[in-house]
Amino acid sequence: MNIADLQQQAEEMVEWLAAYGADPEGGVTRLLYTSSWIEAQQAMDRKMRAMGLDTYYDDAGNLFGRIASEDPEAGTILTGSHVDTVKCGGKYDGAFGIIAGLLALRYLKETYGPPKRNIEVVSLCEEEGSRFPLTFWGSTNITGTAPTDHIAQIRDSEGIPFVEAMNKAGFGLGHYRSPLRKDILSFIELHIEQGAILEREQTTIGIVEQIVGQKRLTIECSGEANHAGTTPMGWRKDALRGASQMIVAIMEAADRRGAPLVATVGKIEVEPNVSNVIPDKAAFTLDIRHPQGDVLDAFCEEAVAICFAAAQDRGLQVKVNQHLDVRPVGMDASLLRSIETICQAQGLPYRLMPSGAGHDAQIMAAHYPTSLIFVPSHRGISHNPAEYTSKEDLAAGVQVLIRLLYELGYEKETIS
Ligand code: GLV
Ligand code: MN
Ligand code: MN
Repeated sequence: MNIADLQQQAEEMVEWLAAYGADPEGGVTRLLYTSSWIEAQQAMDRKMRAMGLDTYYDDAGNLFGRIASEDPEAGTILTGSHVDTVKCGGKYDGAFGIIAGLLALRYLKETYGPPKRNIEVVSLCEEEGSRFPLTFWGSTNITGTAPTDHIAQIRDSEGIPFVEAMNKAGFGLGHYRSPLRKDILSFIELHIEQGAILEREQTTIGIVEQIVGQKRLTIECSGEANHAGTTPMGWRKDALRGASQMIVAIMEAADRRGAPLVATVGKIEVEPNVSNVIPDKAAFTLDIRHPQGDVLDAFCEEAVAICFAAAQDRGLQVKVNQHLDVRPVGMDASLLRSIETICQAQGLPYRLMPSGAGHDAQIMAAHYPTSLIFVPSHRGISHNPAEYTSKEDLAAGVQVLIRLLYELGYEKETIS
């Protein structure tokens, strides 16, 4: 394969996909089931077919491109990542894993013809949790672990119910096949690192050993709206003041616990959000991550206790809703060794590393042998329009993926 062509194709496809949901400020916003998301999936479907793959959707909105084996009973090797983005995100997060899979499958089909096992690339419908208080909607539907109980209640920040948005996009109505999969033999996700380790160490490939555990909560404080000029400080039930006290105390507790624990308050909503009214409602999100499940649990309990103590102190009501709890998870050791061998054979500098970011691979890993492979992120910047990976690094990742998919799809008689 001509490496210069692969570099150019990878770069062009990243730009092509980034046009769907392009923000005027240079970022990309493709939230689940919005028009930019629908257009991106439809464009990806056309692209997959133009590149010689058979395509289909499942009823959650995941899109698959397939090279079928001649043996209909053969299982499936799955690669891919998520098509949704955070608000004003970058061009590579998620998108690169889909594009890499597409380029790899086209090359394998054109070069080797039908594989021993089906090989599919998936454009997963949602991973980020950016529109609804819901994450990993694509991969949890595939593994049969999607939450069902509170789906009817959840809404986006404009009040649009999740189910209405899904149905309007054409999904959740039984028009497509069930997302649940029993035929997957391995899942391989290629992704940008979203950190600066590979670039600083001038290493091209990161082979992930473990993905951190993660909890996400929403904390809602309720007090009493009142006049900003006539209500003495000591008589107020100021929801935002209480929320601020909670946030500062949680951040101090996180500092005390130290690395590798990380805690983030990324979103605050205040009501009535008027300059001369004491807020009666303040809600904030809390994202907590740690590679050890027991530390994650203990810190989460500490944070919740801080919230209740501050609420009592300020005469407020507080409601805590945990909407994500994923455990730390190890990647498959045998796949990891195969990738090491591939990097050595291709002369690519590599290292083993953990992932602090969440990935669909952590959902898949509980069900199928799974691997997560990183390429460098320039200056470690991600969830930001400035996200960037060079075409040389993109192509190196695709080459590793091609070789791994070849071994899994065409070569090995059995898969452990
Ligand atoms: C997903 O990108 C996350 O780690 O928040
Ligand atoms: Mn992301
Ligand atoms: Mn991602």
